[in-house]
Amino acid sequence: MTQLSGKVIVVTGASRGIGLAVAVRLRDEGATVARLARTLRAGWHEGFLDLPCDLTQEQDVDHASGQIGGQLGTPDVVVSNAGAFMLAPLEETEPSDFDTQLAVNLRAPFLVARAFLPSMRREGRGLHISVGSISDHHAFPENAAYGASKFGLRGLHEILREEYRGSGVRCSLISPGPVDTRMWDRADPDATPGLMPRKDMLKPDDVAEAVAFLVTRPPHVEVDWLRIGPA
Ligand SMILES: NC(=O)c1ccc[n+]([C@@H]2O[C@H](COP(=O)([O-])OP(=O)(O)OC[C@H]3O[C@@H](n4cnc5c(N)ncnc54)[C@H](OP(=O)(O)O)[C@@H]3O)[C@@H](O)[C@H]2O)c1
Repeated sequence: MTQLSGKVIVVTGASRGIGLAVAVRLRDEGATVARLARTLRAGWHEGFLDLPCDLTQEQDVDHASGQIGGQLGTPDVVVSNAGAFMLAPLEETEPSDFDTQLAVNLRAPFLVARAFLPSMRREGRGLHISVGSISDHHAFPENAAYGASKFGLRGLHEILREEYRGSGVRCSLISPGPVDTRMWDRADPDATPGLMPRKDMLKPDDVAEAVAFLVTRPPHVEVDWLRIGPA
């Protein structure tokens, strides 16, 4: 028996990186964890209910939320973590790049919230965690598409928090600084002046620990915004 036994938790973008570390941590604390990502294989694996799902597609999100509702019931916690990253000067950012960043980092979390929050409100309980970024409140050059999407996500979080105030459903935003995951592969920080070397970044487990902190607050405590970064 561990502190999250009996809890149903959904983690998006849990096939690797931060989402996988969060899913493992919460499963190891006793929760039943459903993982959503495009490259997962449907079914139960390593104690997870895996649902392959492109979160930019409304029908995929609705199908996954229906499967989770049918098999596990209303989630206690949703960790909206899936995301994609790009760095490029404005003049090299194609409109299609901008659309893609907004689709994955802002529209998909909107679809996820819309799929899960109504049943959580009906039950008068639950926690919705958005994984933002330092880029949701700090402006970096060459970050137009990603930064705009994450500033938007912070706005979405703040609106959800107001909309669900008093319902029993709590909303938290966690904004990590750089974390050493595959998200950085294309930018190649170890070879790019001005970017933090990978060895100095947070590890996915550091973010998982912070998410576990949010998940284990008692129901009368709402953490609005948690910022963490390398010391
Ligand atoms: N790494 C950092 O420095 C850092 C810092 C601050 C915030 N963050 C945020 O943390 C979150 C996770 O990032 P990460 O570093 O762990 O990146 P990652 O290793 O690249 O993982 C991204 C995850 O998102 C999933 N995903 C991407 N597009 C998806 C889609 N259309 N539908 C479903 N799943 C999708 C991927 O799964 P599939 O490919 O299997 O679909 C994968 O599981 C993101 O929101 C990111 O913005 C990261």
